[in-house]
Amino acid sequence: MSDPAPSSPRTVIRGASVIDGTGAPRRSADVAIAGGRIVAIGEPGSLEGDTVIEAAGRILAPGFIDVHTHDDYVVIEKPQMTPKISQGVTTVIAGNCGISLAPLTASEVPAPLNLLGPGSAFTFPSVAAYAQAVDAACPSTNVCLLIGHGSLRFAVMDDLDRKASPAEIEAMQALLSDAMDEGALGLSTGLYYKIAEAADIDEVVALARIIAPHGGIYATHMRNEHDLILDSLEETFQTAGRAGVKVIISHHKCAGPNNWGRSSETLAVIESARTRQDLGLDCYPYIAGSTVLEPFLVDETIRITVSWSTPHPEMAGRDLADIAAQWGIGQREAAERLKPAGGIYYNMSEEDVRRILSYPQTMIGSDGLPQDAHPHPRLWGTFPRVLGHYSRDEGLFSLETAVHKMTGIPAANFGLADRGIIREGAAADLVIFDPDTVIDTATFDAPMQPAAGIETVIVNGVLSWQDGTHTGERGGMFLNMAERRGQ
Ligand code: ZN
Ligand code: CU
Repeated sequence: MSDPAPSSPRTVIRGASVIDGTGAPRRSADVAIAGGRIVAIGEPGSLEGDTVIEAAGRILAPGFIDVHTHDDYVVIEKPQMTPKISQGVTTVIAGNCGISLAPLTASEVPAPLNLLGPGSAFTFPSVAAYAQAVDAACPSTNVCLLIGHGSLRFAVMDDLDRKASPAEIEAMQALLSDAMDEGALGLSTGLYYKIAEAADIDEVVALARIIAPHGGIYATHMRNEHDLILDSLEETFQTAGRAGVKVIISHHKCAGPNNWGRSSETLAVIESARTRQDLGLDCYPYIAGSTVLEPFLVDETIRITVSWSTPHPEMAGRDLADIAAQWGIGQREAAERLKPAGGIYYNMSEEDVRRILSYPQTMIGSDGLPQDAHPHPRLWGTFPRVLGHYSRDEGLFSLETAVHKMTGIPAANFGLADRGIIREGAAADLVIFDPDTVIDTATFDAPMQPAAGIETVIVNGVLSWQDGTHTGERGGMFLNMAERRGQ
């Protein structure tokens, strides 16, 4: 992006308590923006502008970066992005968990690719084509894209139940290499899922090596977040170490009642790995996860709520146990009848969620599923829940730390050079919120509700959300390498 023309109209946000994203304590200041950039920061009351937003008593923070999303298709299909902009999110990282919309063309897709949208949505043979479609749609948020290992496998393999052959690995490497040239952020895996579980560490290392020279990031939904979580962490460290890449552990959790409380173990292992290699992690602030509903994921012990079902759309929002009882069958059999479908799994402990959220390196990522009929409330509630519930009401950490986990840390981890921190010259991605009232209102029963207390959201200088509604203006774009570096 170039410097703003001297004639660009200037907006001043006056007198807010600025939390700048670095983790530093808040301080009162005026912030001026013009031409999509922050152009001046001064003492309260010192700056003038064509438009003035009075923000005394409010927090001004960098726009939040949602590091873990499945927004690949929704940014094109419903570019208003209300679930995210209403939370103060100004950048989404799509393509997580081994599934990305590009580069892939298909008419029907297997689970979990179907979480992104219908088969007919997969029309982008390249990242260049995808980036063009994003920019044409002009979503409310900026978009970065990881390339899903599962998408690459589905694109080049005829049988996903085995490990890729040398020729197939080469074909995936070629697709990934082009994708990186065209602006992808890195590689993601979802080794937990059927479409990828047959891949061994060598297959993933062979792909991760391709992103290394680009400074690409490797994000992983690990093979196992249940009893074998320590093995999966070890596999993750080895994969990234051998490939020479930074790794992000996606939605870190200790899943299943057997493993509740084990986050003290896993975080200790992560802390020690951090002394040897570059790694990060993200987490959403809820004790339930959500993904596809598959019989093999049904253990008949934890509560599961159906989030969507193609053959039985009327069951969205109901508990699997109730549906099974109504049908007079077991829960696994009910899941079989409901699929393709999605589920919300109450598989974590509150103690672990708090411990993982509080770990200093943990970033916030919603993992929201925007296509679901009855989505997990994380889609609409993640960021205000961390700010209002966990920081303010529960006192888990300061508001400065909460903001740092949503802005400065993600920007550093993902190489977003001019976002995530409020400073002169940075992109004008900003959120103004009321620290006394900010809170999520989305619940497991009523999951599609905009947050309270998020007052103003600005993306690349465009006023996008104000007074609880979308302004209709959208300022987001696909962030390719040059834009991520702020060139
Ligand atoms: Zn995942
Ligand atoms: Cu995910």
